[in-house]
Amino acid sequence: MEREMAITGRGEGYVRIAVLASGSGTNLERLARAVEDGEVPVEIALVVSDNHDAYALQRARDHRIPTAVFELEDYPDRPSFDRAIVKALKEARVSLVVLAGYMKLVGPEFVSAFRGRIMNIHPALLPSFPGEHGVEDALEHGVKVSGVTVHFVDEGLDTGPIIAQEAVPVLEGDDKESLLSRIHEAEYRLYPRAVRLFAEGRLLLEGRRVRVLPGAD
Ligand code: GRF
Repeated sequence: MEREMAITGRGEGYVRIAVLASGSGTNLERLARAVEDGEVPVEIALVVSDNHDAYALQRARDHRIPTAVFELEDYPDRPSFDRAIVKALKEARVSLVVLAGYMKLVGPEFVSAFRGRIMNIHPALLPSFPGEHGVEDALEHGVKVSGVTVHFVDEGLDTGPIIAQEAVPVLEGDDKESLLSRIHEAEYRLYPRAVRLFAEGRLLLEGRRVRVLPGAD
């Protein structure tokens, strides 16, 4: 297989990004705060949701971030829904799309429009426990260590190149809530850092390995 190499991000320390969220948006909240605190050199230019009730939209408004809602039932099919979102992302001139609890698989046209420029966060150590129920599946399987994965998005379900991972131990007596709350704490550390690395042009995609170039930290 031919090895593809690309430097992601512009390395200029300033990147316009969009965040896609379907639900509560706590990762959006932490990212927005990190941006406001000057820890992540990006502008969140747009928050997109596929659910007009998503609390993530309120969080975006609280941070004065523009929002857009695209609901699947308003489109004749899935490709036209994805195309409408891609159009909005292009109009917003974003160079990184950050999925933060976005509960839809991004379609192939969407992936190819932003290849190497879509990130997702998953509440398990991929490639174990992909899909919607990563936390429950890890608990049920009985693993002693789970964690968080940030990865680039490809056409598969949670299969793209891994950018960063953090392990979270599963403790005796953990239930879904207690494990999820420690996983969230790891997410809030890992996602802003991954977005910063992208913005600093420090993520090098080589085949399916993501190398992190050295920087100030
Ligand atoms: C996170 O746990 C993330 O790993 C998963 O969806 C959840 C989103 O939570 N992809 P929130 O909406 O950011 O609170």
